[in-house]
This record gives sequence, structure tokens and C-alpha cells, in this order.
Amino acid sequence: MNKLRRLALLGLVGAPIALAAVSGCTDKASPGADAAAPPSSASAAAATSSTSSPGVAPGAHAKPPVRGGGALVRAAGEAALWIADEDHRVLRKIPLPVPAEGAALPAPIALPGAPAQVLALADRVLVTIRSVPEDLAKPNPITHPPGLLLIMKPDAAKGLVEVARVDLPADAWGIAVSPDESTVLVTSAWTHKVSAIDLATAKLRWTIDVPREPRAVVIRPDGASAYVTHLVGSAVTRIDDLASATPKIHAVDLPPAPARAPSGKTLDASLGYSAVLSDDGSRLFVARHALGALGQGSWFGAMTLDVLATRSDTPVLQKRLPGLPATKNPLLAKLTDAGLVTPLEIAAGELTPVTQPRASAYRKSAKTVVVIGEGDDRLAELDALSAAPAIKPVVIYKVGSKYDVHLNIASVCGAPTGLALSEDDKLAYVFCRSTYDLATVTLSDPESPPPLPRVKPGEDRSRETPTEVTTIHLADDPGDKEVMLGRRLFHNATDALTSGGLACSGCHPEGRDDAHVWHEARVASNNESERVIFIAEPELAPNEKDGKIGYAMQTPMLAGRIGTDGPYGWHAQNKDLVARLKEGFGLHRWSSVYRKGEGEQLARIQYLRAFARSGLVNPPKEKRELTEDETKGQAVFLSAAAQCGKCHVPDPEYTDRMAYPLSPKLPPLPGFEEDPKAEFKTPSLRFVGGTAPYFHDGRYSTLEALIDQNNDRMGKTRQLTKDERASLVAFLRTL
Ligand code: HEC
Ligand code: HEC
Repeated sequence: MNKLRRLALLGLVGAPIALAAVSGCTDKASPGADAAAPPSSASAAAATSSTSSPGVAPGAHAKPPVRGGGALVRAAGEAALWIADEDHRVLRKIPLPVPAEGAALPAPIALPGAPAQVLALADRVLVTIRSVPEDLAKPNPITHPPGLLLIMKPDAAKGLVEVARVDLPADAWGIAVSPDESTVLVTSAWTHKVSAIDLATAKLRWTIDVPREPRAVVIRPDGASAYVTHLVGSAVTRIDDLASATPKIHAVDLPPAPARAPSGKTLDASLGYSAVLSDDGSRLFVARHALGALGQGSWFGAMTLDVLATRSDTPVLQKRLPGLPATKNPLLAKLTDAGLVTPLEIAAGELTPVTQPRASAYRKSAKTVVVIGEGDDRLAELDALSAAPAIKPVVIYKVGSKYDVHLNIASVCGAPTGLALSEDDKLAYVFCRSTYDLATVTLSDPESPPPLPRVKPGEDRSRETPTEVTTIHLADDPGDKEVMLGRRLFHNATDALTSGGLACSGCHPEGRDDAHVWHEARVASNNESERVIFIAEPELAPNEKDGKIGYAMQTPMLAGRIGTDGPYGWHAQNKDLVARLKEGFGLHRWSSVYRKGEGEQLARIQYLRAFARSGLVNPPKEKRELTEDETKGQAVFLSAAAQCGKCHVPDPEYTDRMAYPLSPKLPPLPGFEEDPKAEFKTPSLRFVGGTAPYFHDGRYSTLEALIDQNNDRMGKTRQLTKDERASLVAFLRTL
């Protein structure tokens, strides 16, 4: 394979970087190794992947192709794919080879709620159900706990029969199975839990609390530890002693895109939906967005594939040392000119091999990690031996097609969310969630991958390589036409009017929030009046030198909070949702205002509003009476003394949608400019227990801190006893 390319990436791009270790075999002496690294027996076992699967009948396909679930997986026991189709609340089985378009497919299997992931063992199919809807007939009903793990068996006549159902914390999402198939781990996203289930007895063994929004889970080949990624935040969670009754959790630092980060800084990450281990388990790959990663036109940052050496839990690429120049290192400049390293200042469209990574797979034959992007309907193969695989992709393919000439969104294979590789490693199967299609993509020849088209700095040209992609349509959108187009627009980052390279779901994933505090920065260029845009970090501000690094604007959650008329925006600056969406279009892009007719904008707004109000799914909510403690907290909330209910009017969304100056005005947090406006809109408190950090600037990391440090700025809290404060917080968590 192309040795020069790999050498360049492994050794030379690291010149200004504290390069700790470049592969699983040299990471022993890495500086900064995690003190709580697993015992050495784990390392020995990790080196050879387990091949025995006690309790499972041996057979040609007995071993599951991967031990992690997905929206799309390949079956272990037979030639078939399984698709967890969340929006239709069904499981789909697709025989392999994929039938031609129009051929009859097996009937989909109805499920008790929306599935997130499926995992197919030789004799069982496991499915996570996020929560159970109140009224299955409604398109997006309120959903309630519990989450479920369904354990099913393939059945010749019925397709699948349920053999067990395990109640789990609500929003059950990611699944992984241990190599001996004794234990199943499930993440519960909204309720931030990880649970272990004994597969033989279908009994819940333990549930533990982890940080916000756990999503992917992978178990190391030794079966002793697991890694969990999070939709928000940069650390990953490692869980040890899986087999014991008292597993232990550790936060493992994994700096997002350290090669692109300003020196000395750890960036924020978002969209950590997926994780994959190399075949020997020595490296963990986490695909996500590095918010604030450097590059030309990089207003939000870039996609990254961060690599963790699992023997020592050390990032393969360490954080850049403080005080280094961002990209203008003289040695690096020479190497770049010689074509030996990839320049960081590549054109905006090429900063990220894919946008909004949703799923990944390890391609053993090519030693690449295959990643699919929800935002740009692309699939990229990234070099698994590189320390910074996303900087120079091996190859990029487009899977979306038939782009709508008006809306610039794919009509075929939009918003890929599921990915599996064929048994011979030559094909990728992709499930596209906004159009409900299944694509089959021919991957590159591992011996001689096609050369990636070269892009010079400043050049905005696509580096996609043509390949064979065939698609079949599985189902129509469950919503009406406006919801359908709104769903496609919401997840799409290729339409330059709605967004300059990042979709709504890039910041409001699933209508939730990215927990990031954006900078609303003013930009003035030569012959243009001042514009306002979002940037992820102050270093990306075009007018940084003038101190114009932007005002703090935390992403609000949308699901369940935008049902009423308005006003909208942190300053209540938009009279209604239409005005808000229009303003938003201009904020989410780097380049100057995209000039298109009013009608072009209004059509998009109409579709997005339809989807945002009836297509987004609320997080699950417990249906129960308040406890005694919560009732006490409710009384405090509604009391004339505390005044909370005056602004946070309970019906319908715990807000009066008015803007107030809270006094005294607090100085801006480091890294932000002082906002001249003092008034902020009362935010909705629905689902507030799950949306940390709090306030427009993310000043408080917990509700407890918010109440304790309030000092009568907002309502009156000083008079509250410790118990009353605790009850108030307990009540807030029920909203
Ligand atoms: C770069 C991240 C980002 C992207 C992309 C993004 N948003 Fe936002 N959104 C924000 C932030 C930050 C705010 C708060 C700013 C404000 O209120 O002025 C916000 C506010 C909103 C609000 C107002 C909510 C309220 O309660 O006042 C709506 C509605 C909204 N966004 C919808 C969308 C839609 C629809 C899209 C896609 C067209 C989108 N957003 C894309 C970050 C983003
Ligand atoms: C005068 C109107 C007003 C009153 C009274 C009020 N709030 Fe607020 N609340 C606001 C505003 C405005 C913000 C946003 C402030 C900011 O972002 O700087 C806010 C923010 C919050 C938040 C953070 C929400 C988020 O998602 O960031 C919580 C929680 C909250 N309030 C709870 C309370 C409680 C509890 C009380 C009673 C003790 C209370 N509020 C009284 C107006 C009010």
C-alpha cells in the first residue's frame, strides 16, 4: 500500500505536536499514560482477539461480524442485514445479496417502540428500544420509560420471535456484546446510564450512572473493560470489571483533533455517536466533530477521528504543547511545500472527510476506518494507521444522489445513519435515514486505492472519487410531504442557503443540544457591511485581533420546546419561529449572505418548521405522581417568595418567552466578548434536567450550582434552606 502517504502522516505531520505513540505497538512508554490503566493481563489478552464463543453452536457464520450494534448490521448466522428503522418503529431484514430495486422484501417486524440499534448473533437478534410511546398511532407521541432490550430468535415462519424483554433506563440506545456472549451492555442516552444484562438469563446485572448522552459502546477483546462515547463533551468513559457486581468507571481524556487544535487547548467535541476498535483491539477510533478545529473557513471546526491506544489509554496524538504557532511552523511549511504533509489550511469544503459522522466500521483488509456522514451523504475511508486519520482521507465516496434542484438535498440516500461491511470486506451497506434507502457501495481496492484528487489551499473542489453505488428504497417518510422535506433539510449540510456546511442536527442532534456555547461574532470584510455568524471558538474569529471574539450563545434544545408562537432567540429577538429560522440561516455559515429569492427561503422555513414541530421526538419522560420531596420543590417554585413561576410560566413550556435583564449583570466568561444587551429570554425548563450546562453562557454546570450561586439574581433563592434547594432541584428534574 501507499507507504509514503502513511509515513508522511505518521511521522511528519506530528512535527510541531507532542506525538506520543503512533500505533498500538509503541504506546508503552507514552507520556501521560492514564494512571488507572487496566492491568497488564488485559493488554496481553487484547493483543489477540478471542475466537471462541462458548454457548454458541459453531458454524460458518457463527461469529458475529462485529460485537457492537448499529442502525444497520450484518447477521452472524445467515446472509442477511438487519436494519433498526427508528422512524417507522420496525426492524427490517434484508437478504444478501441485496435484492434489486422493486423486488419483494420480507415484511418489516413491528416493535413496541422506536428502535435505536440492532445486533445479530448466530442465534439471537438483540434490539434496543428507546422508550415506549403513549399512543402508537401518533407520528411523534410523548414517550415514556422504560427503555427495552428485546432478545429475539430468528424463526423460519415468523421471521423473529421475542424470547425476552429486559426493562432498562429510558432511551436505551447503544448495544455491545462481550466476546463470550455472556454479557450485553446497553447505553441509555437521555438518562445517562450504562446497564449490563446477563444474556443467558435475560436478567439485568447492574446499571451505572455515566456523564451526559452516552451513545456507542464497545467491549475490549479481553471482555473485561468497555468504552463508551458521548454525544457531547470530549472525554470517553471506560468501564472496568464488567463481570463483577460493582463495575468501575473512569473518564479517559481523548483530545479532539489535537493536530488542528490551537496549541495548549483541548477542544470541545460533539456528535460522538460511534466508536470502533481495530481488529486486535489495540486502538479505539472515535469519529465526531472537534468544535473549533483550525482550518481555512472553519467556522464550526472539523470532523475528526480520534485514536486511543487502548493498552495504556493514551491518545495516539497528544494535545499540542502551549505556545506553538497554529500552523505557520517553518519546518512544517517546508514539508508542506514538498508535498510531504497535508496543509491544515485546506479549503472549507475539504476540512472534513464527512460531516456529522454517524457510524463507523473497521475495514481489516485495507486497515482503514470507514465513516459515514449524515450531513453530506458521504462515506470516507480513513487510514487506521495514521495518528490523525481525518486530515488526509484515503478515499471519499458520495452515497447520496438525485439532489433536489431547489433544495439541494438528496432524494436518494440522504442522511446515512447505519453502516456495515460485507463479509469479504469489499462492499459497504449504508442505511439512509432521511430517505429510508439502503445503499450498497463498492469500496476501494485495498492494494491500490484510487488517488485522492489533490486540492490546493483556497480551492473549493470536491475530493469525491466515483464508485459504484446501488440503492433500494425501503419505505416512504412516515410524515406528510412538508415533514419529509423538513426532515431531509434538518439533517442536511449541503444546502448553502440553510447552512454553510453544518446541518441543524449538527448542533441540535435529534432536536437536543450539543452542550456547546457558541460565539456570535461580528465579521466585517472589505466591501461588506458587518455580519453576524456563529463560530465555535474565539481562535476562529476573523476579526480576533480586534477583540471581536463573539458573545456567548449556548445551543438550546428544540424538541418539546418550540410549540408556541414566540418570541424566539436568547434575546427574544425573533418574533416567531419563521423569523428565527430566517435569522439562523445567516448565522450558520462562514461566507457572506447567500443571495436567493425570498420564496426559496420561505419554502425551507415552512418545511423545517413542520419537521421541528411534529417530526422531532421528545426525550422520554416518566409518567408518575411527584414524590413528597418533588412536591415540596414544586411549592417553592410556584411560591410568591421564590417567583420562579412568574417568568417560567408552567403552561405550556415553563416560559413566558419574555426577555429580562437579570441584575447585577455579570462579566463575560473568559474567551467571550461582553454582550451589550443585558436582557435574556426566559428559557423553557422542559427537560431541563438533561441540558447542562445552564444559562446562555453555560456558566453553571449543574442545577445545584445554579441555585446555590443565584444570590437573588433570578427570582429569590437566598432565603431557601438547604433542603428546600434540594427539593427545588428535584422538582426541576421532573419537568
Ligand atoms: C452552529 C450551531 C447551530 C446550527 C447549525 C443550528 N443552530 Fe439553531 N441554535 C443554535 C444556537 C447557538 C442558538 C441560540 C442562539 C439564539 O437564540 O440567538 C440556536 C437557536 C435556535 C432556535 C431558537 C430556539 C429558542 O427557543 O429560542 C431554533 C428554533 C433553532 N435554533 C433551530 C435551528 C434550525 C432549524 C437549524 C437548521 C436550519 C439550526 N437551528 C441550526 C445553534 C445552531
Ligand atoms: C425575572 C424572570 C425570571 C425569574 C423570576 C426566574 N427566572 Fe429562571 N431564567 C430567567 C432567565 C432570563 C434565564 C436565562 C438567563 C441567562 O441565560 O443569562 C433563566 C434561566 C433559568 C434556568 C437555566 C435554564 C437553561 O436551560 O439554561 C433555570 C434552571 C432557571 N432559570 C430556574 C429558575 C428558578 C428555579 C427560579 C426561581 C427561583 C427562576 N428561574 C426564576 C428568568 C427568570
